[in-house]
Amino acid sequence: MATLPRVFFCSLVMMMVVFSAANPGLSPFFYDASCPQANDIVMSVLERAIAEDPRMAASLLRLHFHDCFVQGCDASILLDKTSGMASEKDAGPNKNSIRGIEVVDEIKAQLEQVCPHTVSCADILALAARDSTVLSGGPHWEVPLGRRDSKTASLKKANTNIPAPNSTIQHLITLFARQGLDEQDLVALSGGHTIGVARCVSFRQRLYNQNGDNQPDATLERAYYNDLKAACPKTGGDNNVSPLDVASPVRFDNTYFKLLLRRKGLLASDEALLTGDVQKTVELVKGYASDEELFFHHFAKSMVKMGNINPLVGLKGEIRHNCHHVN
Ligand code: HEM
Ligand SMILES: *[C@@H]1O[C@H](CO)[C@@H](O)[C@H](O)[C@H]1NC(C)=O
Repeated sequence: MATLPRVFFCSLVMMMVVFSAANPGLSPFFYDASCPQANDIVMSVLERAIAEDPRMAASLLRLHFHDCFVQGCDASILLDKTSGMASEKDAGPNKNSIRGIEVVDEIKAQLEQVCPHTVSCADILALAARDSTVLSGGPHWEVPLGRRDSKTASLKKANTNIPAPNSTIQHLITLFARQGLDEQDLVALSGGHTIGVARCVSFRQRLYNQNGDNQPDATLERAYYNDLKAACPKTGGDNNVSPLDVASPVRFDNTYFKLLLRRKGLLASDEALLTGDVQKTVELVKGYASDEELFFHHFAKSMVKMGNINPLVGLKGEIRHNCHHVN
Protein backbone atom coordinates (compact mmCIF):
# COMPACT_ATOMS: atom_id res chain seq x y z
CA MET A 1 0.00 0.00 0.00
CA ALA A 2 2.80 2.34 0.91
CA THR A 3 4.22 2.16 -2.61
CA LEU A 4 1.08 3.48 -4.23
CA PRO A 5 1.47 7.12 -3.19
CA ARG A 6 5.10 6.99 -4.16
CA VAL A 7 4.30 5.71 -7.65
CA PHE A 8 1.64 8.36 -7.91
CA PHE A 9 4.02 11.05 -6.72
CA CYS A 10 6.75 9.98 -9.13
CA SER A 11 4.46 10.00 -12.12
CA LEU A 12 3.20 13.42 -11.10
CA VAL A 13 6.75 14.74 -11.02
CA MET A 14 7.40 13.11 -14.39
CA MET A 15 4.32 14.76 -15.84
CA MET A 16 5.39 18.12 -14.49
CA VAL A 17 8.84 17.73 -16.01
CA VAL A 18 7.37 16.80 -19.39
CA PHE A 19 4.86 19.61 -19.21
CA SER A 20 7.33 22.33 -18.25
CA ALA A 21 9.73 21.21 -20.98
CA ALA A 22 6.93 21.68 -23.50
CA ASN A 23 5.90 25.13 -22.32
CA PRO A 24 6.88 27.70 -19.72
CA GLY A 25 3.93 27.42 -17.37
CA LEU A 26 1.15 27.96 -19.90
CA SER A 27 -1.82 25.62 -20.35
CA PRO A 28 -4.66 25.34 -22.88
CA PHE A 29 -7.00 24.89 -19.89
CA PHE A 30 -5.95 28.06 -18.07
CA TYR A 31 -9.35 29.80 -18.36
CA ASP A 32 -11.51 26.66 -18.15
CA ALA A 33 -12.73 27.58 -14.67
CA SER A 34 -12.28 31.37 -14.62
CA CYS A 35 -13.62 32.22 -18.10
CA PRO A 36 -14.97 29.21 -19.98
CA GLN A 37 -16.47 31.55 -22.62
CA ALA A 38 -13.09 33.02 -23.60
CA ASN A 39 -12.55 30.88 -26.71
CA ASP A 40 -16.08 31.42 -28.00
CA ILE A 41 -15.97 35.18 -27.51
CA VAL A 42 -12.72 35.53 -29.44
CA MET A 43 -14.05 33.33 -32.25
CA SER A 44 -17.40 35.11 -32.54
CA VAL A 45 -15.85 38.60 -32.77
CA LEU A 46 -13.37 37.34 -35.36
CA GLU A 47 -16.00 35.61 -37.47
CA ARG A 48 -17.74 38.92 -37.95
CA ALA A 49 -14.60 41.04 -38.35
CA ILE A 50 -13.06 38.68 -40.92
CA ALA A 51 -16.34 38.30 -42.85
CA GLU A 52 -16.38 42.11 -43.14
CA ASP A 53 -12.68 42.37 -43.99
CA PRO A 54 -10.88 39.12 -44.90
CA ARG A 55 -7.47 40.82 -44.60
CA MET A 56 -8.14 41.22 -40.87
CA ALA A 57 -7.09 37.59 -40.36
CA ALA A 58 -3.65 38.39 -41.73
CA SER A 59 -3.35 41.56 -39.70
CA LEU A 60 -4.12 39.73 -36.44
CA LEU A 61 -1.72 36.89 -37.20
CA ARG A 62 1.04 39.43 -37.75
CA LEU A 63 0.18 41.33 -34.55
CA HIS A 64 0.95 38.24 -32.43
CA PHE A 65 4.29 37.74 -34.24
CA HIS A 66 5.31 41.37 -33.70
CA ASP A 67 4.27 41.13 -30.07
CA CYS A 68 6.23 37.93 -29.36
CA PHE A 69 9.49 39.12 -30.98
CA VAL A 70 9.68 42.12 -28.61
CA GLN A 71 10.26 41.16 -24.93
CA GLY A 72 8.11 38.06 -25.43
CA CYS A 73 4.37 37.54 -25.94
CA ASP A 74 3.24 40.12 -23.41
CA ALA A 75 0.99 42.48 -25.40
CA SER A 76 3.70 45.16 -25.24
CA ILE A 77 2.82 46.03 -28.84
CA LEU A 78 -0.63 47.23 -27.76
CA LEU A 79 0.55 49.89 -25.30
CA ASP A 80 0.02 53.49 -26.39
CA LYS A 81 2.73 56.08 -26.08
CA THR A 82 2.85 57.97 -22.76
CA SER A 83 5.02 60.86 -21.53
CA GLY A 84 7.34 58.32 -19.94
CA MET A 85 7.28 55.51 -22.49
CA ALA A 86 7.61 55.20 -26.24
CA SER A 87 5.18 52.93 -28.08
CA GLU A 88 6.16 49.96 -30.24
CA LYS A 89 3.47 51.14 -32.60
CA ASP A 90 5.89 53.87 -33.71
CA ALA A 91 8.69 51.43 -34.59
CA GLY A 92 9.63 51.08 -38.28
CA PRO A 93 8.13 47.60 -38.79
CA ASN A 94 4.84 48.66 -37.16
CA LYS A 95 4.21 52.27 -38.15
CA ASN A 96 1.55 52.71 -40.86
CA SER A 97 1.48 48.96 -41.12
CA ILE A 98 0.01 47.09 -38.14
CA ARG A 99 -3.75 46.70 -38.12
CA GLY A 100 -6.41 44.98 -36.05
CA ILE A 101 -6.02 46.69 -32.71
CA GLU A 102 -9.65 47.82 -32.75
CA VAL A 103 -10.71 44.17 -33.14
CA VAL A 104 -8.58 43.24 -30.12
CA ASP A 105 -10.31 46.09 -28.24
CA GLU A 106 -13.70 44.69 -29.13
CA ILE A 107 -12.74 41.22 -27.91
CA LYS A 108 -11.31 42.67 -24.70
CA ALA A 109 -14.46 44.74 -24.06
CA GLN A 110 -16.68 41.68 -24.39
CA LEU A 111 -14.41 39.61 -22.17
CA GLU A 112 -14.39 42.33 -19.50
CA GLN A 113 -18.21 42.18 -19.46
CA VAL A 114 -18.37 38.41 -19.00
CA CYS A 115 -15.26 37.73 -16.91
CA PRO A 116 -13.80 41.00 -15.67
CA HIS A 117 -10.06 41.31 -15.13
CA THR A 118 -9.35 37.73 -16.12
CA VAL A 119 -8.16 37.26 -19.71
CA SER A 120 -4.89 38.97 -20.64
CA CYS A 121 -4.38 41.01 -23.79
CA ALA A 122 -1.39 38.78 -24.61
CA ASP A 123 -3.62 35.69 -24.59
CA ILE A 124 -6.20 37.49 -26.76
CA LEU A 125 -3.45 38.04 -29.35
CA ALA A 126 -2.45 34.36 -29.24
CA LEU A 127 -6.06 33.16 -29.57
CA ALA A 128 -6.81 35.68 -32.32
CA ALA A 129 -3.78 34.48 -34.31
CA ARG A 130 -4.96 30.86 -34.07
CA ASP A 131 -8.59 31.64 -34.92
CA SER A 132 -7.56 33.89 -37.82
CA THR A 133 -5.57 30.99 -39.25
CA VAL A 134 -8.48 28.58 -38.84
CA LEU A 135 -11.03 31.01 -40.33
CA SER A 136 -8.76 31.46 -43.36
CA GLY A 137 -8.66 27.70 -43.98
CA GLY A 138 -5.45 26.87 -42.11
CA PRO A 139 -4.62 24.42 -39.32
CA HIS A 140 -6.01 24.35 -35.79
CA TRP A 141 -3.89 23.98 -32.65
CA GLU A 142 -4.47 24.18 -28.92
CA VAL A 143 -3.22 27.54 -27.65
CA PRO A 144 -1.32 27.37 -24.34
CA LEU A 145 -2.73 30.19 -22.17
CA GLY A 146 -1.94 32.09 -18.99
CA ARG A 147 0.30 34.86 -20.31
CA ARG A 148 0.12 38.12 -18.39
CA ASP A 149 0.49 41.63 -19.79
CA SER A 150 3.63 43.74 -19.60
CA LYS A 151 3.89 47.10 -17.85
CA THR A 152 6.53 48.18 -20.35
CA ALA A 153 7.14 48.35 -24.09
CA SER A 154 10.32 48.62 -26.15
CA LEU A 155 10.35 50.68 -29.30
CA LYS A 156 14.05 49.97 -29.57
CA LYS A 157 13.63 46.19 -29.51
CA ALA A 158 10.76 46.48 -31.99
CA ASN A 159 13.20 48.15 -34.38
CA THR A 160 16.02 45.65 -33.86
CA ASN A 161 14.26 42.30 -33.32
CA ILE A 162 11.59 42.32 -36.02
CA PRO A 163 13.11 41.33 -39.38
CA ALA A 164 13.09 43.78 -42.28
CA PRO A 165 11.79 42.65 -45.68
CA ASN A 166 15.24 42.98 -47.28
CA SER A 167 16.97 40.81 -44.65
CA THR A 168 19.42 38.22 -45.93
CA ILE A 169 18.82 34.56 -45.11
CA GLN A 170 21.65 34.68 -42.58
CA HIS A 171 20.13 37.66 -40.83
CA LEU A 172 16.69 36.03 -40.75
CA ILE A 173 18.19 32.92 -39.18
CA THR A 174 20.04 35.07 -36.62
CA LEU A 175 16.94 37.06 -35.63
CA PHE A 176 14.85 33.91 -35.22
CA ALA A 177 17.62 32.14 -33.30
CA ARG A 178 17.67 35.08 -30.89
CA GLN A 179 14.07 34.11 -30.03
CA GLY A 180 14.87 30.42 -29.67
CA LEU A 181 13.44 29.63 -33.10
CA ASP A 182 15.29 27.48 -35.63
CA GLU A 183 15.40 27.28 -39.41
CA GLN A 184 12.31 25.08 -39.56
CA ASP A 185 10.39 27.65 -37.50
CA LEU A 186 11.62 30.40 -39.82
CA VAL A 187 10.38 28.70 -42.98
CA ALA A 188 7.13 27.39 -41.51
CA LEU A 189 6.22 30.73 -39.93
CA SER A 190 7.15 32.67 -43.08
CA GLY A 191 4.27 30.65 -44.53
CA GLY A 192 2.09 33.14 -42.63
CA HIS A 193 2.63 35.19 -45.78
CA THR A 194 0.08 32.94 -47.48
CA ILE A 195 -2.40 35.64 -46.41
CA GLY A 196 -2.25 39.42 -46.29
CA VAL A 197 -0.51 42.19 -48.16
CA ALA A 198 2.57 44.38 -48.14
CA ARG A 199 2.96 48.05 -48.99
CA CYS A 200 5.01 49.20 -51.94
CA VAL A 201 7.65 50.60 -49.55
CA SER A 202 8.29 47.07 -48.30
CA PHE A 203 9.36 45.69 -51.68
CA ARG A 204 10.24 48.71 -53.89
CA GLN A 205 13.95 48.16 -53.33
CA ARG A 206 13.64 44.82 -55.13
CA LEU A 207 12.08 46.39 -58.19
CA TYR A 208 14.46 49.27 -58.84
CA ASN A 209 17.47 49.36 -56.61
CA GLN A 210 19.13 46.02 -56.84
CA ASN A 211 22.89 46.63 -56.63
CA GLY A 212 22.13 50.32 -57.17
CA ASP A 213 22.01 49.67 -60.93
CA ASN A 214 18.28 50.20 -61.29
CA GLN A 215 17.80 46.56 -62.36
CA PRO A 216 15.18 44.30 -60.80
CA ASP A 217 16.11 41.59 -58.36
CA ALA A 218 17.20 38.61 -60.49
CA THR A 219 15.08 36.28 -58.37
CA LEU A 220 11.81 37.92 -59.58
CA GLU A 221 9.83 36.20 -62.33
CA ARG A 222 9.50 38.58 -65.29
CA ALA A 223 5.73 38.86 -65.74
CA TYR A 224 5.24 39.12 -61.99
CA TYR A 225 7.88 41.85 -61.89
CA ASN A 226 5.99 43.83 -64.54
CA ASP A 227 2.76 43.54 -62.56
CA LEU A 228 4.52 44.72 -59.42
CA LYS A 229 6.04 47.70 -61.22
CA ALA A 230 2.54 48.82 -62.19
CA ALA A 231 1.40 48.54 -58.59
CA CYS A 232 4.54 50.09 -57.13
CA PRO A 233 6.09 52.94 -59.14
CA LYS A 234 9.63 54.12 -58.57
CA THR A 235 8.32 57.17 -56.74
CA GLY A 236 4.93 57.70 -55.12
CA GLY A 237 2.34 55.09 -54.23
CA ASP A 238 4.22 54.16 -51.07
CA ASN A 239 1.10 52.74 -49.45
CA ASN A 240 -0.20 50.81 -52.46
CA VAL A 241 -0.57 47.22 -51.37
CA SER A 242 0.13 43.94 -53.16
CA PRO A 243 -0.77 40.45 -51.95
CA LEU A 244 2.00 38.40 -50.35
CA ASP A 245 0.42 35.33 -51.99
CA VAL A 246 -0.77 36.61 -55.35
CA ALA A 247 -2.59 33.35 -56.21
CA SER A 248 -4.82 33.06 -53.09
CA PRO A 249 -4.40 36.14 -50.89
CA VAL A 250 -7.09 35.39 -48.30
CA ARG A 251 -6.76 31.60 -48.26
CA PHE A 252 -4.40 29.96 -45.78
CA ASP A 253 -2.79 27.24 -47.90
CA ASN A 254 0.65 26.25 -49.24
CA THR A 255 0.53 28.30 -52.45
CA TYR A 256 2.97 30.78 -50.86
CA PHE A 257 5.66 28.08 -51.16
CA LYS A 258 4.57 27.04 -54.66
CA LEU A 259 4.91 30.67 -55.72
CA LEU A 260 8.41 30.89 -54.24
CA LEU A 261 9.42 28.01 -56.53
CA ARG A 262 8.14 30.07 -59.48
CA ARG A 263 10.05 33.17 -58.26
CA LYS A 264 6.82 34.93 -57.35
CA GLY A 265 7.53 35.70 -53.72
CA LEU A 266 6.75 39.35 -52.93
CA LEU A 267 9.41 40.21 -50.36
CA ALA A 268 13.13 39.67 -50.75
CA SER A 269 12.98 37.85 -47.40
CA ASP A 270 10.42 35.42 -48.85
CA GLU A 271 12.44 34.51 -51.94
CA ALA A 272 15.62 34.33 -49.81
CA LEU A 273 14.29 31.15 -48.18
CA LEU A 274 14.74 29.47 -51.56
CA THR A 275 17.54 31.43 -53.22
CA GLY A 276 19.70 31.90 -50.13
CA ASP A 277 22.56 29.49 -49.66
CA VAL A 278 21.12 27.56 -46.73
CA GLN A 279 20.25 24.01 -47.79
CA LYS A 280 17.86 23.43 -44.89
CA THR A 281 15.51 26.30 -45.79
CA VAL A 282 15.62 25.40 -49.50
CA GLU A 283 14.57 21.83 -48.69
CA LEU A 284 11.77 22.99 -46.42
CA VAL A 285 10.35 25.38 -49.04
CA LYS A 286 10.26 22.50 -51.53
CA GLY A 287 8.80 20.17 -48.93
CA TYR A 288 5.99 22.55 -47.98
CA ALA A 289 5.25 23.35 -51.64
CA SER A 290 4.61 19.68 -52.34
CA ASP A 291 2.99 18.71 -49.03
CA GLU A 292 0.42 21.08 -47.55
CA GLU A 293 -0.22 18.78 -44.61
CA LEU A 294 3.43 18.93 -43.63
CA PHE A 295 3.34 22.74 -43.81
CA PHE A 296 0.18 22.90 -41.67
CA HIS A 297 1.67 20.52 -39.11
CA HIS A 298 4.92 22.48 -38.83
CA PHE A 299 3.16 25.85 -38.86
CA ALA A 300 0.96 24.86 -35.91
CA LYS A 301 3.96 23.53 -34.00
CA SER A 302 6.01 26.68 -34.64
CA MET A 303 3.11 28.95 -33.68
CA VAL A 304 2.96 27.28 -30.26
CA LYS A 305 6.73 27.67 -29.97
CA MET A 306 6.58 31.34 -30.95
CA GLY A 307 3.69 31.86 -28.52
CA ASN A 308 5.86 30.49 -25.72
CA ILE A 309 8.54 33.15 -26.08
CA ASN A 310 9.23 34.65 -22.66
CA PRO A 311 5.67 34.89 -21.29
CA LEU A 312 4.96 36.70 -18.03
CA VAL A 313 3.44 34.18 -15.63
CA GLY A 314 2.69 33.91 -11.93
CA LEU A 315 3.03 37.29 -10.28
CA LYS A 316 4.85 38.94 -13.15
CA GLY A 317 3.10 41.64 -15.17
CA GLU A 318 -0.62 42.19 -14.78
CA ILE A 319 -3.99 41.62 -16.43
CA ARG A 320 -4.66 44.93 -18.13
CA HIS A 321 -8.17 46.38 -17.93
CA ASN A 322 -7.61 48.12 -21.24
CA CYS A 323 -5.06 46.76 -23.69
CA HIS A 324 -3.83 50.27 -24.56
CA HIS A 325 -2.67 51.19 -21.05
CA VAL A 326 -1.01 49.69 -17.98
CA ASN A 327 -3.43 49.61 -15.05
C1 HEM B 1 10.61 35.95 -41.69
C2 HEM B 1 10.66 37.24 -41.49
C3 HEM B 1 9.53 38.16 -41.82
C4 HEM B 1 9.65 39.34 -42.48
C5 HEM B 1 10.93 39.96 -43.02
C6 HEM B 1 8.32 39.89 -42.60
C7 HEM B 1 8.02 41.09 -43.18
C8 HEM B 1 6.77 41.54 -43.47
C9 HEM B 1 6.45 42.77 -44.15
C10 HEM B 1 7.46 43.77 -44.63
C11 HEM B 1 5.10 42.82 -44.30
C12 HEM B 1 4.30 43.92 -44.98
C13 HEM B 1 4.19 45.13 -44.07
C14 HEM B 1 3.67 46.35 -44.81
O1 HEM B 1 4.17 46.65 -45.89
O2 HEM B 1 2.77 47.03 -44.29
C15 HEM B 1 4.56 41.65 -43.69
C16 HEM B 1 3.21 41.33 -43.64
C17 HEM B 1 2.72 40.24 -43.00
N1 HEM B 1 3.42 39.34 -42.23
FE1 HEM B 1 5.43 39.15 -42.16
N2 HEM B 1 7.43 39.03 -42.02
C18 HEM B 1 8.13 37.98 -41.52
C19 HEM B 1 7.60 36.92 -40.80
C20 HEM B 1 6.27 36.77 -40.50
C21 HEM B 1 5.74 35.81 -39.57
C22 HEM B 1 6.57 34.87 -38.71
C23 HEM B 1 4.38 35.94 -39.60
C24 HEM B 1 3.34 35.18 -38.83
C25 HEM B 1 3.44 33.92 -38.53
C26 HEM B 1 4.08 36.98 -40.55
C27 HEM B 1 2.82 37.38 -40.91
C28 HEM B 1 2.55 38.42 -41.76
C29 HEM B 1 1.22 38.69 -42.27
C30 HEM B 1 0.00 37.84 -42.04
C31 HEM B 1 1.32 39.85 -43.03
C32 HEM B 1 0.18 40.60 -43.74
C33 HEM B 1 -0.46 41.57 -42.77
C34 HEM B 1 -1.63 42.36 -43.31
O3 HEM B 1 -2.05 42.16 -44.45
O4 HEM B 1 -2.15 43.23 -42.56
N3 HEM B 1 5.24 37.48 -41.05
N4 HEM B 1 5.59 40.89 -43.18
C1 LIG C 1 17.78 47.22 -46.39
O1 LIG C 1 17.29 48.50 -46.68
C2 LIG C 1 17.87 49.55 -45.93
C3 LIG C 1 17.22 50.87 -46.35
O2 LIG C 1 15.86 50.76 -46.44
C4 LIG C 1 19.36 49.60 -46.16
O3 LIG C 1 19.94 50.57 -45.33
C5 LIG C 1 19.98 48.24 -45.90
O4 LIG C 1 21.34 48.26 -46.25
C6 LIG C 1 19.27 47.15 -46.68
N1 LIG C 1 19.80 45.85 -46.31
C7 LIG C 1 20.10 44.93 -47.22
C8 LIG C 1 20.60 43.63 -46.66
O5 LIG C 1 19.97 45.09 -48.41
